[in-house]
Amino acid sequence: MTISAKEYARRRQDLMATMGPNSIAILPAAPERTRNRDVEYPYRQNSDFWYLTGFGEPEAVMVLLPGREHGEYVLFCRERDRTMEIWNGYRAGPDGAVSDFGADDAFPINDIDEILPGLIEGRERVYYDLGHDADFDRRLMGWVNSIRERVRSGAQPPGEFVALAHHLHDMRLFKSAAEVKIMRRAASISAGAHVRAMRTVRPGMAEYQLEAEYLHEFMRHGSRSPAYPSIVGGGANGCILHYIENSQTLNDGDLVLVDAGCELENYASDITRTFPVNGTFSKPQRALYELVLASQYAAIEATHPDNHWNVPHEAVVKVLTQGLVDLGLLSGEVSELIETEAYRRFFMHRTGHWLGLDVHDVGDYRIQEQWRQLEPGMVLTVEPGLYVAPDDDTVDEQWRGIGIRIEDDVLVTKDGCEVLTHEVPKDVADIEAVMRGNG
Ligand code: GLY
Ligand code: MN
Ligand code: MN
Repeated sequence: MTISAKEYARRRQDLMATMGPNSIAILPAAPERTRNRDVEYPYRQNSDFWYLTGFGEPEAVMVLLPGREHGEYVLFCRERDRTMEIWNGYRAGPDGAVSDFGADDAFPINDIDEILPGLIEGRERVYYDLGHDADFDRRLMGWVNSIRERVRSGAQPPGEFVALAHHLHDMRLFKSAAEVKIMRRAASISAGAHVRAMRTVRPGMAEYQLEAEYLHEFMRHGSRSPAYPSIVGGGANGCILHYIENSQTLNDGDLVLVDAGCELENYASDITRTFPVNGTFSKPQRALYELVLASQYAAIEATHPDNHWNVPHEAVVKVLTQGLVDLGLLSGEVSELIETEAYRRFFMHRTGHWLGLDVHDVGDYRIQEQWRQLEPGMVLTVEPGLYVAPDDDTVDEQWRGIGIRIEDDVLVTKDGCEVLTHEVPKDVADIEAVMRGNG
C-alpha cells in the first residue's frame, strides 16, 4: 500500500528539474506541539515534507541541491540515542536516513548550524516557504546573514528567495496510481464507518457516542486518526458548519449530520452523510434531503475533464435554487435569485475542495484569473448542503432547524469521474434500509 522509495525519489527529481542548477530547497519537518504542560499532541508530519521524503520524524530538515556532486538529497535528522529510544521510541538516525529513506547524505540535526550555511553558500536561489514556522524562518535568516557577513572574504550569499510551494503544490494536486490506491482504501474505511453509524444510532445516544463508532471503525482498519475533527450534529446542530463539540443528545425525530473521514498513511478522506436518528425521514426532512441529493448528483455528473473547477458548483446552485423556490423557501425568478446569491442564506459554502495529504488540499483553483480545468488524477470533494437556521421565521416552521450535507470524494478520470466513497449509501430508500438492518 505504501508509496515506494522510487516514487519519493521521482518526486524529488521532478521538483529539482523545475528549480534549476544554482538553487537549494530547504524544508523543515513539522514542529512538535504542546497540548498541556508536558503532554504533546500526537505528532503529524508536514504534508509537503512527507510528500518528498516519507520521513515521519520531527526535528528533521530536508535539503535538495540540484547538481550537487556529493548527492542532491541531504537530510538532517535526530541521532540514534539509546536512552531517548527507550523512553520515546525508535529513531532512524543519519545512517537510517541514507539506508532506509534514500538520502544521499545525512547529518545530525544538532550539527545543522555548522553544515547548512556551507550548503547554501554559492547557491543563487533559495526555495523556501516563509511565514509558516517563525522559529525556522529566523534560523534560516541567521544562516543567510552569516554568509553575508563573510562577503569580503569571498562568500557568496543567495540573491533570491522563491516560494517552494508553487510547483510542489501543483505536483501534489495530481495523484499517482499509488496515491489513488491509498485514497480509495481511506475512502472505503470511512464509508464503512458511516454504514456502522447508520446501523448503531438510536434516540438518546450522545453525539460523542456516535463519534466513537467512527473512531473505532477507523482504527480497526488501520487508520490511526481522523483526517480532521469529526462533526456530529443532531437536529439544529447540523446547521453549525464546524460543529465539533458533539456533546448533545440525539433526539427522536431529528436528523444527524456527520462529517467524518479517516486519515490513512497521511492521506485524507472526507465524507458527510445526514440520516434520521430514528431511522425514518420525516416529510420535510425528506424533501430538503432529496433536493440536496439531486444537486449532488448534478455536481458529480459535471465533474468531468471537459469542465472547469466551478462547473459542479454552478450545477449545485442551479438545482438548489430551483428546488428552494419549488418548496417555497425562496420566491422570485430563479435566474435572479442565482444572480443575487439569494440561495446563500441556506447554502453558504462552496461545493468542494481538493483532497489529498491535507483535507483541504493544496493546488490552485484558478489559473491567471480563469477557473482551472479539471484533469485526470485530481481528487476533490462534492459536498452541497442546505441549512435552515432554527430561528429563520421567513420560512415555514416545518423547515426550521434542518441541516443537511452530502459529501463524497471524487477522482477525475479520463472520461468522467470515479466516486471513491461510493460504498456508503445516500439515497433515502437505501439509507432507511441500512438503518432497518436490511441494507
Ligand atoms: N470536513 C471538512 C470539509 O468538509 O471541508
Ligand atoms: Mn467534510
Ligand atoms: Mn470537505
